[in-house]
Amino acid sequence: MAKIAIASDHGGFRLKAELRELLVNAGNDVTDLGTADAVTSCDYPDFAHAVAANILSQTAALGILVCGTGVGMAIAANRHAGIRAVVCSDTYTARLSRAHNATNILCLGERVVGSGLAWDIVNAWLAEPASGDERHLRRRAKIEL
Ligand code: RB5
Repeated sequence: MAKIAIASDHGGFRLKAELRELLVNAGNDVTDLGTADAVTSCDYPDFAHAVAANILSQTAALGILVCGTGVGMAIAANRHAGIRAVVCSDTYTARLSRAHNATNILCLGERVVGSGLAWDIVNAWLAEPASGDERHLRRRAKIEL
């Protein structure tokens, strides 16, 4: 089971709350970094940066971020060296983003995917190990500037 930091803005609050409960029930160690409700407008970069910081300090191994589309969260999280965030709305991309790209943050859009598909995506992503093949290690190393 994984040590996971999870967060959302108001646009992703409901899906974040559902996923947090499912992840805890599945035995994961989950830290919820906010936001606290779906009605108080807030700024997604604040939560993306909080989850990225948790991963870079090794407080959590992996992160999950939810906003309306997942896009803003991924853009903000990917500004951090060492963070590889992916927006997923299918399980194939989720699996390959782990295997090839060793993504450490999964971003989801509450307005894009239903909760059933989102949970499948989360499970596909968590279950897939990062490949240690030389070509993938070489390509990942070239991501960092
Ligand atoms: C908030 O309205 C919305 O812009 C945000 O949740 C997210 O979709 C941004 O990428």
